[in-house]
Amino acid sequence: MSRRPLIAGNWKMHLTVTESVQLAEAIAATGSNCPDRDVLIAPPFTALAAVSNAVAKSPLLVAAQNVAWEQQGAFTGEISPTMLTDLGVAWAIVGHSERRQIFGESSAMINRRLHGALANAVHPILCIGETLTERESEQTFAVLQQQIEEGLDQVTAEQLHNIVLAYEPVWAIGTGKTATKEQAQEVHAFIRGLLTTMYEKSLADSIRILYGGSVKPDNIDDLMAQTDIDGVLVGGAALQAESFSRIICFQ
Ligand code: PGA
Repeated sequence: MSRRPLIAGNWKMHLTVTESVQLAEAIAATGSNCPDRDVLIAPPFTALAAVSNAVAKSPLLVAAQNVAWEQQGAFTGEISPTMLTDLGVAWAIVGHSERRQIFGESSAMINRRLHGALANAVHPILCIGETLTERESEQTFAVLQQQIEEGLDQVTAEQLHNIVLAYEPVWAIGTGKTATKEQAQEVHAFIRGLLTTMYEKSLADSIRILYGGSVKPDNIDDLMAQTDIDGVLVGGAALQAESFSRIICFQ
């Protein structure tokens, strides 16, 4: 089963509009040098309109870093899926560990966000991952299973086609400690196996599972060589054109 690689950059709460457009344009230029893979960037909400506009003619995909479930209403501080599609933005990260841990988002809320995206033609990237304490107490698989079952609650096979999963061990995010390629592959294989019990095997085999957590130019090639790693979600190293370009053009 060949799955098209997806290299995604999460810019988090960084960059002004001008800086965002400059970086997006530089990435769009590199992306075209390394074909046969999807490249996605997730700028902050303030830069989405300008970035979406700047790269509209390139194959670069643009995502929001979160999305609400309703189309409009009294939801102070939220951005709806139709507000994203209005900008030509067809992707959204949901359930990033920073949303879960710092902002207290529950799996039930994340599931609502995911359904809101799906109902409005926005592709969700559902993030899951265990903390260091959970890993050290050998709860990794149980935690991931719960996050996946709750995150994908009421998701049909037809809808799953439009979803990307991202395994991001919380202890590896922003810490410089990447999971080893063996640790990452072990978890990715577990996730795909779990999807096989929830959906048809052929569907589970077609779903892209990204790895995230301190992905850098010097570990990208090893990670992408693993059977069940179909791409990466990159934070820090996605903020510079040079390092992200090297990651895009993995070998
Ligand atoms: P990092 O972030 O690459 O800076 O570890 C990854 C992420 O949070 O998606």
